Amino acid sequence: MRILIKRDILFHHLSAPVLDTGLLNQLKEFKQHGKCTCYDHSIAVAKTALFLSMILPFRFKQKQLVKGALLHDYFLYDWHKVKLEKLHGFHHPKIAAENAHRDFKITKIEENIIRRHMFPLTPIPPKYRESVLVTISDKYCATKEVFVALGHKIRGLHPATHIANTVAFLLAFLPWR
Ligand SMILES: [Fe+2]
Ligand SMILES: [Fe+2]
Repeated sequence: MRILIKRDILFHHLSAPVLDTGLLNQLKEFKQHGKCTCYDHSIAVAKTALFLSMILPFRFKQKQLVKGALLHDYFLYDWHKVKLEKLHGFHHPKIAAENAHRDFKITKIEENIIRRHMFPLTPIPPKYRESVLVTISDKYCATKEVFVALGHKIRGLHPATHIANTVAFLLAFLPWR
């Protein structure tokens, strides 16, 4: 539990430059999975990625990790309603990256996090370890959100069951988003 408190303090510090702009509040207008908004989802992905960076035995650029994660779904439309030429799942990383470039100063790591977070649905893999963490965290959070939306109890599930759920989610949902 102490590590979660440490994570939240660090998250508060690292996310402030992005959250204090107020621009991310736009994401509160759009639903992501179930009742979860794009804002809630982005915060959850950033916190999960930061947590993983704290427990894994590698060095991560945590400031860029958090910023990239916060902006990974900065596409700014309701994907349930808008009809795009390409499916949302394939197209939104590019739109999010363009919006992030327009509204923020973005490093190449942050851009890679945003553009590659849908791997393996989009074929080019993440280039940096920070991008890999966000890609994994995004799948994990999306799975949780979908299962909550479906009314499943996810707390107390065996880790193997959660992995199975994640794989099932990836196969069943992601290609059609
Ligand atoms: Fe996404
Ligand atoms: Fe996402």
